[in-house]
Amino acid sequence: MAQYLITGIAGFIGSTLAHTLVEQGHEVRGIDNLSTGNLDNLADIRSKISFQEMDLQDAAGMKSACEGVDYVLHQGALASVPRSVKDPLSSHESNINGTLNLLIAARDAKVRRIVYAASSSAYGDQPTQPKQEDMLPLPLSPYAVQKLTCEYYIQSFYRSYGLEGVCLRYFNIFGPRQAADSPYSGVIAQFTFKMMAGETPTIYGDGLTSRDFNYVENAVSANLLACTAPSKVATGRVFNIGTGKSHTLNDVYAAIAGQLGFSAKPNYGPEREGDIKHSLADISRASKELGYQPKAQFHEGLQKTVAWYLEEKQKQEAAASKG
Ligand code: UD1
Repeated sequence: MAQYLITGIAGFIGSTLAHTLVEQGHEVRGIDNLSTGNLDNLADIRSKISFQEMDLQDAAGMKSACEGVDYVLHQGALASVPRSVKDPLSSHESNINGTLNLLIAARDAKVRRIVYAASSSAYGDQPTQPKQEDMLPLPLSPYAVQKLTCEYYIQSFYRSYGLEGVCLRYFNIFGPRQAADSPYSGVIAQFTFKMMAGETPTIYGDGLTSRDFNYVENAVSANLLACTAPSKVATGRVFNIGTGKSHTLNDVYAAIAGQLGFSAKPNYGPEREGDIKHSLADISRASKELGYQPKAQFHEGLQKTVAWYLEEKQKQEAAASKG
């Protein structure tokens, strides 16, 4: 049994990690400033974890949060490419200043290892597919720059201070608990939410934009493997966490519409600023060095995700009709 600290624990990926670690009998501590996270995501495990509402930039708070911790799973961030394009300063503060503050606290508390939620957006305009970790990053959006900068910080803290760190470049992670009601939500969440409300989603671009959509369970398994992989193969390194397969936005739309029985054709709008056209992971490094295998497939994951949103909607409607 180990002591974990999850930053961004009330968010989609953080809360899924927390559920898995609690099930496995680990001690889970978590922080979140609740700017985008939601405590409902932790409702069923709230009594089994230690939670503090805290910002990553709170130096004294992060110092106490890191005391006695074995592994830090650093998920806390102001996610979203378009949010960073609109407001680069606040996402810089959360994503870069917050991470640096956490790294200092983790170093001083001598945590065993930090696993960082990096982003495939770092590849940006690199034309070659699939993306390999050795390629030169060409970040487009402020968000991509911020996520890449923190990879360098993680590597620097390993080389400068011996703090073990592993960077997981997430490709588009989706699944239950992903927030759906904001313009900054992930595309699968937004499409599902809109179709359930009888609204027609808009596809930005021609619909042939593609992403390596990865079900959240796969990202959880990558985090756990990254904690325990031998230091010589894992620390100070970057790993792609995708599936090795991609799907177009047209495919995604059709699959969700099929499951929900939604018959309207999509609206098409201009491409979104800061977007990359295609994204596909080469996962051979993570497979070889971490033993990572994306067991959950896209369609199976999508089916579970859409079913979860439907269930949540029914619960909310039932609660509203009682109240
Ligand atoms: C996503 C993540 C980002 C992560 C990156 C890794 C989210 C919100 N963002 O960025 O944190 O670092 O993957 O690869 O999960 N789109 C539409 N219609 C919509 C919404 C989106 O067509 O209503 C399009 C976008 O223009 C984009 C694609 O769907 O082409 C994916 O967008 P999004 O889900 O926001 O993810 P990324 O920007 O790829």
